[in-house]
Amino acid sequence: MVEGQALELSLERLAQDALACNQCPLSNTRTNVVFGEGHPQADLMFIGEGPGETEDRTGRPFVGKAGQKLTEILKSVKIERDDVFITNVVKCRPPENRVPARAEVDACADWLTAQIGLIRPLLIVTLGNTPAQHFLGRNEGIGQLRGKLYRWKGGIEVFPMFHPSYLLRYPSKTKGSPKYLTWLDIQTVAERMSFLRSRIPGS
Ligand code: URA
Repeated sequence: MVEGQALELSLERLAQDALACNQCPLSNTRTNVVFGEGHPQADLMFIGEGPGETEDRTGRPFVGKAGQKLTEILKSVKIERDDVFITNVVKCRPPENRVPARAEVDACADWLTAQIGLIRPLLIVTLGNTPAQHFLGRNEGIGQLRGKLYRWKGGIEVFPMFHPSYLLRYPSKTKGSPKYLTWLDIQTVAERMSFLRSRIPGS
C-alpha cells in the first residue's frame, strides 16, 4: 500500500472513532460529529471554531452561509476546497452557536492534534478568535492576532484570519475593514504556500 492510501485509511479510522466520542456535553446535543473534510495529505489546513446548524445537520464543515463565504475567499486566490483540509476546534455544535467553552475545546483537542499529525500540513490558517487563541495560547482578540505568521509548538506555521461569519456581519469593503484585511490575508496565505512548496526538495 502506498503512503497516501495508508494515511487516508488512518484518517478514516480516526473519523470513525471521533463519531463515537462523548468526552464532553456537546455530544448530548449534536446531530452529527463534524470531523472535517478535504485532502488527506493537504499542505494547507483551515480550522474554524465549531459546527453551526447546517454543519450539524449535514456532518460537513463550513457548508452554511459562513462556509459559502469561506469558499469564495479561497476561490479569490484559486484555492479549491478539495485541495485543503477544513475542520474546527470542536467537532460538535455548541447549542445556539455559542462560543465553545475552554473545557469543550480542551476535550476535543486530541482529535484535532491527531488530525494535524496525520495530515502534516505546512500551514494552518485559523478562522476567528477561538482557534487562534487555542493554537497561540494567547488571549488577545483576532483583530490583534490576525495577519501574522506564528509557529505552533515550534513547528507548523499558523496564520490567523477573521472568521468568514464576521465578514457577513460587516460587509464594508473600505480600507481597514475586516473584508479588506481578509482579502490581504488570503493573498499572504497563497504567497506563503508558494514559498513553502518551493522549498520542498524535488518541487
Ligand atoms: N463556523 C465555524 O466555525 N465552523 C463551521 O464549520 C461553520 C461555521
